[in-house]
Amino acid sequence: MLNNPALNQLPIWKALQAHQTDINAVHMRDLFDQAPERFERFHLDLDGLLLDYSKHRITEKTLSLLRTLCEEVKLDKARDALFAGKPVNHTEGRAALHMALRGSCDSSLTVEGENVSHFVETLQAQIKSISDQLRDDPDITDVIHIGVGGSDLGPRLVCQALSAFHNGPRIHFLSNIDGQSASALLAQLNPEHCAVLIASKTFTTLETMQNADFVKDWLYQSLPKNTASQRLFAMTSADQKATDYGVQAHHILPMRDWIGGRFSVWSSIGLPIAIAFGFDVFKAFLDGAETVDQHFIDAPFDQNMPIIMALLGVWYRNFWDFRSHSILPYADSLGLLADYMQQLDMESNGKAAPYPTSPVIFGGAGTGVQHAFMQSLHQGGDIIPCDFIIAATNPHSPSGFQEALNANALAQAQALMHGRDNSDDANRHFEGNRPSSCLVLPQLDGYYMGMLLALYEHKIFVQGHLWGINSFDQFGVELGKTLAKTITPSLTGASSDHEGFDSSTAGLIRAITPKK
Ligand code: F6P
Repeated sequence: MLNNPALNQLPIWKALQAHQTDINAVHMRDLFDQAPERFERFHLDLDGLLLDYSKHRITEKTLSLLRTLCEEVKLDKARDALFAGKPVNHTEGRAALHMALRGSCDSSLTVEGENVSHFVETLQAQIKSISDQLRDDPDITDVIHIGVGGSDLGPRLVCQALSAFHNGPRIHFLSNIDGQSASALLAQLNPEHCAVLIASKTFTTLETMQNADFVKDWLYQSLPKNTASQRLFAMTSADQKATDYGVQAHHILPMRDWIGGRFSVWSSIGLPIAIAFGFDVFKAFLDGAETVDQHFIDAPFDQNMPIIMALLGVWYRNFWDFRSHSILPYADSLGLLADYMQQLDMESNGKAAPYPTSPVIFGGAGTGVQHAFMQSLHQGGDIIPCDFIIAATNPHSPSGFQEALNANALAQAQALMHGRDNSDDANRHFEGNRPSSCLVLPQLDGYYMGMLLALYEHKIFVQGHLWGINSFDQFGVELGKTLAKTITPSLTGASSDHEGFDSSTAGLIRAITPKK
């Protein structure tokens, strides 16, 4: 990690604070009126994917100051270190090389003596061969993917996003340690026609292993031992644990320490994508991400999409004190996008620094959210910048629908920016001046889905660097996991000694423990 001073110690910090004071009262409506070419100036196009960032509380001067900020924190050096496989995850001494999975790193790069490109080539051949095999096997109609967090959200999101292209076995995701979900899923499946994927980098995660035990028992109770073992697959960096669990060696798809959980959809964890849609679609997904990687490396700071997205986020979080950020895809099939971004952003950058870091990320698919929390985005006391994500066309949608859907997205963004003066009636007054970006994909397919997710990954990396935090560890999730292990015996009745707990926890244990 580069030893930059904290962001608020840099000379540019004060200049940005002063600039915020200068433009605090400026309304975006006036900025549009003064410069009709504002959209031309403040949008970027990358291989058909468009970012409109004109509806933000920025001027040329804002961008110039933010560019200086990038220079002062030596963003170019941090980016070089990331792609060169340096241990940017410095608290765990690891590289973060998910970009290598899409072919974006030097082919001579080695980590711990292993050539990274060679690892990726071999892994992709294995993903292709296993997905082809499962897709071609008439006995397999259903695949159960068991995983949690980064080992679940990525493939779950992409499988839903591209559902219109589905042409392989059905994919079911089992994630939470909620037995009702596991029972309900198995009740609708026939073990004779199922394959089971256990996705866990560590192969120790409580939720995943409990679900895996349950599903494995179901398979073994219903099928001859040999057949059952042929149906088990694992995606993990703990090969030995998977072998000991009964997974055949050639059914283990490897992970590596340099692939962080929430950045792992491009790795073996993405196997369900190849099973559901075919390896070509998975490859297109990787290609889309590679396009963004190259752009992130090559484009100057002020024309660099993920950098612009990151800078806008820092501008609002640290200089306007806007505390949330909303992700608003206008496509039901992207209904999980906000959940995915929540993990990507908040698990990566929800860390302490001398100033606020990751905003609260929330959202959901439009138009549904217009009838829910959008009221608050238009008139609530907090200003919440948002990203509208739009597919320009959708060949799977009957005539007239996509236009109506997209008209709603554009109307929301326009209303947030422009507002409506109704000073006679405060209840019907819209102040406007509420910022948003629009990301327009030509269509929702594997390639553009890859671009979309990679854009946000790099945005998060840039913000983490600006804030001087490590975006690639997640120690904050550990304490709760450890405590859960100490509470379980009290709930199962294995221990009746609740002495070690605070009175609230002990009281709750008594309340939910079945009375004898
Ligand atoms: O939530 C913490 C976390 O470590 C995530 O980063 C990770 O994606 C998830 O748990 C699952 O971990 P594993 O793949 O090791 O089961």
